[in-house]
Amino acid sequence: MRMPRFLPWLLLLFCLAISTCFARQGPWVMRISCGSRVNVNTAPTNTRWNKDFAYTGGIPANATKYPSFLTPRLPTLRYFPLSSGGPNNCYNIRRVPKGHYTVRVFFGLIEEPDFNTEPLFDISVQGTQVYSLQAGWSTNDDQSFVEAQVFLLDHTASICFHSTGHGDPAITSIEILQIDNQAYRYGPAWGQGTILRTATRLSCGNGKPKFDVDYSGDHWGGDRFWGPITSLGSSSDQPRSTEAGIKHATNAPNFYPEALYQTAIVSTDAQPDLAYTMDVEPNRNYSIWLHFAEIDATVTDVGKRVFDILVNSDVQFQDVDIIKMSGGRYTALVLNTTVLVNGRTLTITLHPKEGQYAIISAIEIFEVVIAETKTLSQEVAALQKLKTALALPPRFGWNGDPCVPQQHPWNGADCQFDRTNFRWFIDGLGLDNQGLRGSLPNDIIKLQSLQSINLSGNSIHGAIPSSIGKLTKLEALDLSYNSFNGSIPASVGQLTSLRRLNLNGNHLSGRVPAELGGMLLHGATFNFTDNAGLCGIPGLRTCGPRLTAGAKIGIAFAASVACLLVVVCATCWWKRRQNILRAQQIAARGAPYAKARTHLSHDIQLTRHYNNQNHHSSRTAAENGPSLLS
Ligand SMILES: *[C@@H]1O[C@H](CO)[C@@H](O)[C@H](O)[C@H]1NC(C)=O
Ligand SMILES: *[C@@H]1O[C@H](CO)[C@@H](O)[C@H](O)[C@H]1NC(C)=O
Ligand SMILES: *[C@@H]1O[C@H](CO)[C@@H](O)[C@H](O)[C@H]1NC(C)=O
Ligand SMILES: *[C@@H]1O[C@H](CO)[C@@H](O)[C@H](O)[C@H]1NC(C)=O
Ligand SMILES: *[C@@H]1O[C@H](CO)[C@@H](O)[C@H](O)[C@H]1NC(C)=O
Ligand SMILES: *[C@@H]1O[C@H](CO)[C@@H](O)[C@H](O)[C@H]1NC(C)=O
Repeated sequence: MRMPRFLPWLLLLFCLAISTCFARQGPWVMRISCGSRVNVNTAPTNTRWNKDFAYTGGIPANATKYPSFLTPRLPTLRYFPLSSGGPNNCYNIRRVPKGHYTVRVFFGLIEEPDFNTEPLFDISVQGTQVYSLQAGWSTNDDQSFVEAQVFLLDHTASICFHSTGHGDPAITSIEILQIDNQAYRYGPAWGQGTILRTATRLSCGNGKPKFDVDYSGDHWGGDRFWGPITSLGSSSDQPRSTEAGIKHATNAPNFYPEALYQTAIVSTDAQPDLAYTMDVEPNRNYSIWLHFAEIDATVTDVGKRVFDILVNSDVQFQDVDIIKMSGGRYTALVLNTTVLVNGRTLTITLHPKEGQYAIISAIEIFEVVIAETKTLSQEVAALQKLKTALALPPRFGWNGDPCVPQQHPWNGADCQFDRTNFRWFIDGLGLDNQGLRGSLPNDIIKLQSLQSINLSGNSIHGAIPSSIGKLTKLEALDLSYNSFNGSIPASVGQLTSLRRLNLNGNHLSGRVPAELGGMLLHGATFNFTDNAGLCGIPGLRTCGPRLTAGAKIGIAFAASVACLLVVVCATCWWKRRQNILRAQQIAARGAPYAKARTHLSHDIQLTRHYNNQNHHSSRTAAENGPSLLS
């Protein structure tokens, strides 16, 4: 059987196509050097940091203090004084592909730290507060950044800094690094509803701080930062290291660098237990990832090193035998467990049972943070419109999400949680006496769930939006003491839940919609006083008759008739006057009257001329006619 010659080529082409399709692209990466006017490339890895000069929030400055492990140091930062941007400031990075990311923010200082000016602020990612800076961080490099593993699913990354009034938040850099979708999957509760905040990451037996890139690690690992630790606290601990290669280190989904397993800490006779303790926030879940590889030449077989792992005295892993569980010597083993910590410390203890003492290569501890759900995006957009239209001062802090993090909601917007749809919505606006200007935008009706609006005591002008009747949940509407003009929109009558309506102290005019009368009967209270032009309810002036189209035609007709009458009368009077004058002339033949006569006739001709011109709109003519003739 002969094979066609082109078949192998076809097969090759097919294989190529398949492999291109399935070849993994590199992870999406965004690094920002805050406050920088130029893009910065840092040695030795030629890492690119983007300038953020187009970003308008905060104030760029030169940093006086940097995290020591950022080498070379990024020279600039951006800081956020309360007076310039208010309490909430955000970086919103757009066009971020949907995925799982490590987000890292480095803090800086604009002046030498002292107790009073050390910036202590909160940081949120996607509306979830992930970290509060602790007093003393500026003298502790390990605390000069925050990192979180988070799903970004709406093509944006929103990273906000929330001032607590102690110092000005100051940021040197932001990194958004894509990681594997399954990275750090610790159990069933893991997923889009949780964020893992890195509490610590330690490379045991290693004396120098290192990033994954220093270990030439896989980019899908998220370029983790590994703190150095050569002793877990006991004086008898010893660091170990090996040059030998480690199997299965860089496996998906976490892609740990191989070098991580080439060093370790081991315990000795003097203190067989290895114990690591760190301070934590009480009543939080912590996800603990422990790394092992048997790199001790004297431990050659299964059963030669067996230990239990305890977290705060509860056994989490029993009879851990690295060689048995990893499948051999010089092979990576990763164990993870999640524990609820009630107290303020978390202690991991390796307690040897058989043979050799305990050994550990690396420790990762994450705080499990429950992700907040964001506010309905159309409501956020409506509030943003309102912010611009009313020129809201920065002290309101309307940046980021209005309702979350719950620790830092926007001033003046009241939030409520919708338990069926798991969404926040806005149910009140309290912006009374805030010196607001501008006019009320129609977009306010997109805040569908508003129950109360208080804009009393500002300088808002223009009309009340005619569609305000669409806010059917509205119970209180207070627009008093502003400069609203025009008439009260008839749609206000559709606000059937309305209990309080204060429109006093504006420049409103026209008739108060009759529909409001019905509400009065149901115990609602209204105040329309101090609006010179309003009419139609008791306490206000009475309105002129309301004119239907028929009535208007009637009036026009009557006015025309009146005009005609006036003209006829005037002509008669003139004729009569002429006759009298002629008679007088004949009688006296005197000159003095001549001038007066000319003048008078001229006046009347003008009046007549006016009336004729405006005959088709005779109402005006009728109104003007008498005044001219009188
Ligand atoms: C930061 O330092 C550079 C020189 O290194 C200087 O040119 C620049 O003006 C400084 N910027 C500020 C905001 O102080
Ligand atoms: C973490 O532990 C859980 C169970 O505790 C396990 O199902 C999961 O596979 C582990 N994850 C990894 C990446 O080892
Ligand atoms: C800790 O995790 C458990 C199990 O997922 C959960 O039921 C509990 O609410 C969590 N506790 C806290 C404080 O997050
Ligand atoms: C609106 O605020 C003013 C004072 O700022 C207050 O007197 C008034 O009662 C408020 N209106 C409503 C409807 O609560
Ligand atoms: C209301 O005031 C604005 C100016 O603020 C003016 O342009 C508009 O014509 C006024 N409308 C009415 C109905 O008086
Ligand atoms: C209505 O507003 C006026 C001031 O514009 C005030 O003097 C009066 O007490 C108010 N009436 C009611 C019933 O609140």
